[in-house]
Amino acid sequence: MPLRLVILGRQGSGKGTQCSLLVEHYGCVHVSTGDMLRAAREEGTELGRAAGELMDRGDLVPDDVMIGIVGERLAKPDIVEHGVLLDGFPRTPEQADALEDILEGQGAVLDVAVNLDVPVDDVKARMLARGREDDTPDAIDRRLRLYEEQTEPLIDWFEGRGLLEVVDGLGTEDEVFARLQATVDDRLA
Ligand code: AP5
Ligand code: MG
Repeated sequence: MPLRLVILGRQGSGKGTQCSLLVEHYGCVHVSTGDMLRAAREEGTELGRAAGELMDRGDLVPDDVMIGIVGERLAKPDIVEHGVLLDGFPRTPEQADALEDILEGQGAVLDVAVNLDVPVDDVKARMLARGREDDTPDAIDRRLRLYEEQTEPLIDWFEGRGLLEVVDGLGTEDEVFARLQATVDDRLA
């Protein structure tokens, strides 16, 4: 069975960084909703323009829009064949319910959701050092506030289904990767 993984964690916790290492190791497809939205913005599509404004403010794109985009992506043959590592989705309990339905429709299940745990002060410092277009102090604060409100309930959602693992995201990239790999391998064993 191809792997189906979700990575959770505060903005700037290193999800994107670790996903590159994870997909190389496990051979599944990395789906980052943030990367997809930034690509749409680059292309200047209608979605990209609308999403760009929301992202710059640190707001979330509406659930129905995100669910439509991810649903389409998950049906593509590369993911059906090789599995997926979801980064940035689901971000709300509504998106998690939708993901469950999408996977059920494919006769697939989620293997594990890993929460990459990094304290607020550390993620702020990382984001300010990274300096992406939406990494302004105001947008960072708003994203982190929304995270506590809307994304933290997700942790309970995954925990309630017995799917949650927590991994310490502090340390070097290699140290964090070794912890993630051990956690995923344990789950799969
Ligand atoms: P998205 O792109 O998902 O951004 P995010 O959640 O803010 O997360 P980041 O990508 O900022 O952080 P990351 O955890 O990937 O960290 P990274 O590896 O870069 O979403 C952007 C926007 O899109 C949202 O605000 C929203 O508007 C919209 N959106 C996306 N999905 C959505 C959804 N499902 N629903 C609604 N709206 C949605 O690492 C951060 C920095 O730290 C880097 O500079 C890195 O080099 C450094 N670093 C990494 N690891 C380490 C380490 N071990 N030690 C020190 N530094 C490290
Ligand atoms: Mg990212």
